[in-house]
Amino acid sequence: MNVLVTGGAGFIGSHTVDALLQQGHRVRILDALCKPVHLKGPPAYLPPEAELIIGDVRDKEVLGRALQGMDAVYHFAAYQDYLPDFSTFFSVNAAGTALIYELIVERKLPVRKVVVASSQAVAGEGLYRGADGQLFTPDIRPEERLARREWEIPDPAGRPAQPQPTPETVANPQNQYGLSKLSQEQIALSLGRRYHIPSVALRYSIVQGPRQSFYNAYSGACRIFCLNYYFNRPPTLYEDGQQIRDYVNIEDVVRANLLVMTDDRANDRVFNVGGGRGYTVREFADIVRQAFGKDLAAVVPGLYRYGDTRHIQSDISALQALGWTPRKTPADSVQAYRDYLYEQIDIDDIMEYAERKMRELNVVRKTQA
Ligand SMILES: NC(=O)c1ccc[n+]([C@@H]2O[C@H](COP(=O)([O-])OP(=O)(O)OC[C@H]3O[C@@H](n4cnc5c(N)ncnc54)[C@H](O)[C@@H]3O)[C@@H](O)[C@H]2O)c1
Repeated sequence: MNVLVTGGAGFIGSHTVDALLQQGHRVRILDALCKPVHLKGPPAYLPPEAELIIGDVRDKEVLGRALQGMDAVYHFAAYQDYLPDFSTFFSVNAAGTALIYELIVERKLPVRKVVVASSQAVAGEGLYRGADGQLFTPDIRPEERLARREWEIPDPAGRPAQPQPTPETVANPQNQYGLSKLSQEQIALSLGRRYHIPSVALRYSIVQGPRQSFYNAYSGACRIFCLNYYFNRPPTLYEDGQQIRDYVNIEDVVRANLLVMTDDRANDRVFNVGGGRGYTVREFADIVRQAFGKDLAAVVPGLYRYGDTRHIQSDISALQALGWTPRKTPADSVQAYRDYLYEQIDIDDIMEYAERKMRELNVVRKTQA
């Protein structure tokens, strides 16, 4: 097949490109090489066998050229930051996706499949079961509660509630990124169905592995904890460190990407792609500590980030029913990321950059206690 991979110079895109080339497909990448993801220019890992078009998915002329002659599309290019330029999330993530369908329909392009990268952020705070056994989907936690260190989400009657593995039916995004990703899913599946362009949306949990940019603010706990232990500093855990997350390895994600491209049972559906098991952030920090062979335990100074999800773990049974299951653990991902970190030559710059960025963003807040 001839496959277009938007965002193919990024983390998930580039690993998918490698796998497609390995399977004998011809690959074209459309990527704007955005900063800060590519702060130091085009990444060295880009394979010369893949054709590279440098351009923006919102540019109709460029996207039209990139789609020409393609049988299938992976759409990974996305805006994913913590900045308050809300409209950019929708122009890149929603309008960029709509433009793919617009061009396919307008120019009658013979694209046989579109796979779009969605996110667990669509599920917001996920699914909970209240003390009365009823399921509910909570909204963002009020800041007054967080300032009082009341981390857990109660049920609607104020009694203790339990987080549940969250299936694809839950869509309750709580920020501009999640909203834009839900919009992207709906555009892809709805226009796909209507114009007979088989489409699939994959809601990734936290994806981990090498090539994740050192410079973007959203690459999260793996990068920050690894950098801390590399420099022999204890990482900081927000809230009480008991937040549950699920982490999925990049190799498992690539297998999911390849599966849904060829399996027609996936057409016109949304799938969670997660690790299948929840870990507390404290457990994850300990996995990183062990990978670096350090004694320093993480610290919990009573900080929080307003807007953070308390617990989220995806229910992956729908994709498992198609024969996929995660094979790698967070420990595997951390080992691979640590090896990648050790290969870098500008590691002091990376830590300095990460810390300056966190201060500039001013997202971390202190509790009252
Ligand atoms: N990494 C994760 O944990 C994760 C989790 C959930 C969802 N996702 C989704 O998966 C996809 C890939 O994420 P990633 O982690 O590989 O991110 P990434 O930042 O490493 O890669 C994204 C790539 O898209 C390019 N890009 C951004 N805006 C563009 C535009 N307007 N036009 C053309 N290219 C553009 C960037 O230059 C970059 O190379 C994204 O859609 C993201 O929302 C990622």
